[in-house]
Amino acid sequence: MHEIAVLPGDGIGHEIMEEAIKVINTVEKRFNIAFKLNHALVGGAAWDKYRKHLPEETLDICEKSNAILFGAVGGPVKEQTSSKWCGTEVNALLGLRKHFGLYANLRPAKLYPALAFASSLRDDIAKEGFDLLVVRELTGGIYFGKPKGRMGKGEDEYAFDTMIYKRGEIKRIAQVAFKAARNRRRKVTSIDKANVLTTMVLWREVVDDIAKEYPDIEYEPMYVDNAAMQLTRNPKKFDVILCGNLFGDILSDEAAAITGSLGMSPSASLSEGNFGMYEPSGGSAQDIAGKGIANPIAQILSTAMMLRYSFDMNEEANSIENAVDKVLIDGYRTPDIIQKRMKKVNTKEMGTLIAGNI
Ligand code: IPM
Ligand code: MG
Repeated sequence: MHEIAVLPGDGIGHEIMEEAIKVINTVEKRFNIAFKLNHALVGGAAWDKYRKHLPEETLDICEKSNAILFGAVGGPVKEQTSSKWCGTEVNALLGLRKHFGLYANLRPAKLYPALAFASSLRDDIAKEGFDLLVVRELTGGIYFGKPKGRMGKGEDEYAFDTMIYKRGEIKRIAQVAFKAARNRRRKVTSIDKANVLTTMVLWREVVDDIAKEYPDIEYEPMYVDNAAMQLTRNPKKFDVILCGNLFGDILSDEAAAITGSLGMSPSASLSEGNFGMYEPSGGSAQDIAGKGIANPIAQILSTAMMLRYSFDMNEEANSIENAVDKVLIDGYRTPDIIQKRMKKVNTKEMGTLIAGNI
């Protein structure tokens, strides 16, 4: 039995998750397979019931499943930003990543020709298109490095975090990036700040070594500031972008932004086995929650990634991705990607159209 933990979260999470479930139900019929969906609360939705963002009950449900399909979390904002609360204690995402050892975060960003107009890139650059994959290390680096804390008082009060990477951690994520490149355009750009940070000197040394094991892959190390610039000037030069946790956080948002809509970007976070968590790259968008206008495509494409990586169902995953392409080519758009002469649809209609094309 294929079991999926379904965690819609809060904000637009529920609305977009409903459409992903519609797609899963269609895949079940069309390919004659069965999934068991195990629903659980997370983020603001869990807080309302348990006063916890990531309750034990939810972890148990995830543990007995083969994959987690995650919506979005945002609330409640007050607890998340007060000084005492920071990082893994209140952020369900960080807790899940650590608990399940989800060290490899894959964030594809591709500019659909039909959506080039929505990109924040200059027209002549957008017209060229791009198709890249950010491979981000997700359970190490400055996010989780110890010590971190706050000390002192008054003007002498200070705060600190630790950026730390072990050789083994760098090797492991680099292997993911180089292997992914073999199924793509065979190029890896490794992002660091080796001109300033000792952690990043080690990062570059280790990735340089791994690159030698992949003579068929074009390899280029690049400073993060340069990469941020190149992404807006010439994004099509990138294929696989390999990053640590912090730089990957930043560059993956930039990559998503230049595609035109955060509502289009899926992601996969994988552990060493087949287990993974799949979620849209965008947030819970509290401002449009409940209006039924959120774009469900990122959630639906995350579902496709889940079928591919956790269930080894390539044909099924392709059928979802092709259905999304088709619906966009046919001119259907949610408000975030609307354009003149296109057919405006809401969240549910978009889900139904995609399911109808599977
Ligand atoms: C992301 C998010 C998270 C991160 C936050 C919400 C903790 O920005 O998944 O990119 O920084 O990793
Ligand atoms: Mg982020």
